[in-house]
Amino acid sequence: MTSGKDSISYFNQIAESWQRLAAVDPVAVAVTMDALHLSGESHVLDVGCGTGTMLAPLLNRLGNPHSEGTDGRVVGLDPALRMLAVTARRFRDPRLRLVCTSLCDYDGGDGPFDAILCCRVLHLLEDPAAALTRLAGWLKPGGRLAILQTLDEKEVPDSAAIALEHALSGEKWTHLTSKHGPHWVVLAATRSGSEG
Ligand SMILES: C[S@@+](CC[C@H](N)C(=O)[O-])C[C@H]1O[C@@H](n2cnc3c(N)ncnc32)[C@H](O)[C@@H]1O
Repeated sequence: MTSGKDSISYFNQIAESWQRLAAVDPVAVAVTMDALHLSGESHVLDVGCGTGTMLAPLLNRLGNPHSEGTDGRVVGLDPALRMLAVTARRFRDPRLRLVCTSLCDYDGGDGPFDAILCCRVLHLLEDPAAALTRLAGWLKPGGRLAILQTLDEKEVPDSAAIALEHALSGEKWTHLTSKHGPHWVVLAATRSGSEG
């Protein structure tokens, strides 16, 4: 599995404009957030968080950080330093930790997680199915994975979408669901109970 150095360089170049380009259909955002089954205590990983498009809804779903029972935390992971620099400027939230690395090199050390989000990232990887195996290793048994891909830019070739669905129907995952909008798809699954 490559870490997609070309795409990292690309996102570093466009980091300052990504937030202007990055809008996601609010229905797709809501479907994704619902799929993650978050509570105020959830420990969440946003893989390829970029400039933080999904970090605001994630942090909102964790609730008021000053209320009881809200120890939730979010790790935003991205190998493009300039994307993370924008994120760091946008969010001053003690519940958020940013880690600059590829999912191919990350050791999962902040986990295990209750939920992992992968928004518009898997199409950039040479082997998305192998990436899902890594993500499974960082989730708690019963933890939730949600993958949002937008289709209007043909971000997910059909073969990759089928490969993802196939990977998510393997023994590491249960309760696979797929919801489609006009220009997006959200795949979600639960990490099965067995370790390994
Ligand atoms: C299309 S942007 C999506 C950013 C954000 N998730 C969103 O939806 O706005 C893709 C992001 O994936 C990141 N990325 C590329 N290769 C990656 C990898 N191997 N591991 C983790 N993130 C990666 C890029 O740096 C970029 O920030």
